[in-house]
Amino acid sequence: MSLDFVILAAGQGTRMKSRLPKVLHPLAGKPLVLYGVQEATSVCRRPPVLVIGHGGDAVREAVGEAARFVEQSEQLGTGHAVLQVRSLLAGQSQYIIVFYADMPLLQASTLCKLYEVQQDNDGPLSLLTVVTDNTRGFGRIVRDGQGSFCAIVEEAQATPEQLAIHEVNLGVYCFDADWLWSHLDQLPLTSKGEYYLTDLASIAVSEGSPIKAISVDDPDEALGINTRVHLAEAEAVLRRRTNEKLMLSGVTIIDPATTYIHSTVQIGQDTTIFPNTHLRGATVIGQECNIGPNTIIEDTTIGNNCVITASVLESAVVEDHVDIGPFGHLRKGAYLESHVHMGNFGEIKNSRLRRGVKMGHFSYLGDADVGEEANIGAGSITCNYDGRHKHKTTIGKHVFVGSDTMLVAPVTLGDAARTGAGSVVTRDVPPGTLVYGVPAHSSGSESDKDQEG
Ligand code: UD1
Ligand code: MG
Repeated sequence: MSLDFVILAAGQGTRMKSRLPKVLHPLAGKPLVLYGVQEATSVCRRPPVLVIGHGGDAVREAVGEAARFVEQSEQLGTGHAVLQVRSLLAGQSQYIIVFYADMPLLQASTLCKLYEVQQDNDGPLSLLTVVTDNTRGFGRIVRDGQGSFCAIVEEAQATPEQLAIHEVNLGVYCFDADWLWSHLDQLPLTSKGEYYLTDLASIAVSEGSPIKAISVDDPDEALGINTRVHLAEAEAVLRRRTNEKLMLSGVTIIDPATTYIHSTVQIGQDTTIFPNTHLRGATVIGQECNIGPNTIIEDTTIGNNCVITASVLESAVVEDHVDIGPFGHLRKGAYLESHVHMGNFGEIKNSRLRRGVKMGHFSYLGDADVGEEANIGAGSITCNYDGRHKHKTTIGKHVFVGSDTMLVAPVTLGDAARTGAGSVVTRDVPPGTLVYGVPAHSSGSESDKDQEG
């Protein structure tokens, strides 16, 4: 038995009112189109065939190797879109599942079920429906007095009686491949000037073939995206799915309605997530942490027993027992070893803070390496940029940087060196030495004498 997937993504998505193609609109952090592609790939190892048209190059780039691409240069309807794939797939597989790229909540398990149903069907196709009060402009499923499937009628063509039908077409079909390829040419041109894939169902009925229309249990799966209102609805469903999965795995989420976690994020047991927290991308958080409230963490790894309050962390690494915030900002390349304390209003970029470093108040460290147990006094910063180039600051173990020190890079402070409050350090400081003043000097040093002279 072989199966191929065809996903239709060539339409413009006029109802989105956007310059961005509909299927590239981000949903919970990734483009809409990737949802269907990933579900299809988990059912069938061969990459699905994606029919592209509007914004085709951008869609191709976003999807990359995950799909095979076929171009539909003129968007003449969903039936016409599938026809473009015929020369690529005819004779290749026994079954073809077709669905639309604007259905991001479809689950692989549902696609498998549809596939199984069609394998048992003597007729040429099976399709998914949902019974719902919110018909969302979907095609209606017309059945006869015995409940057998008759046709799919698009909303624009439906009679008032048909509009009152609550069973709608999800746009997910499993076809007998040979039947599909040999019947696509028979699709009639509709009054809208399009060839509707849905009309294949009426053709099968007219041939006397049975069609299996099975209803999905979870109405969320039917959430097709045609407008930005639908996009927000889908976002809420995905958010709920992700949060529930995390809570069932042992994470406390104080208020799931205001907690925004991408499905890619991993969180350890007994960690608590406080409201208005956004966790994105390849973020990994360990056990027994308190994260938030009001925190944004992206592509960052955090160890166990950390406390992150009202802070922003991007592309950083944080080991165990670290506390950050309120109002800390870790930027790309920040690496905080265990037991680092970073208090109010700190910013760190491309710097390593070794074990036990304390940086309590209003500080900036950029391109720095800070030794164990060093103390960065309030208001101290690295002046790492001379207007053209970035320079490195090296701070040894147990260094005490006095409040409001400016460290003009490149500069090195040896182990256990100390700076006085308000120093501007422009030269390297030997280990164990105290410097102070502007520019900073040690008592009895050359620069000191220069100044006195
Ligand atoms: C379609 C179905 C409708 C179903 C609904 C479910 C048809 C005629 N109608 O309506 O019965 O209830 O989906 O979501 O199939 N596309 C192309 N090329 C085209 C036209 C469309 O690739 O020439 C793609 C679009 O990019 C989109 C998908 O097909 O991903 C569906 O098109 P859309 O215009 O959203 O159809 P609906 O009006 O939602
Ligand atoms: Mg649609």
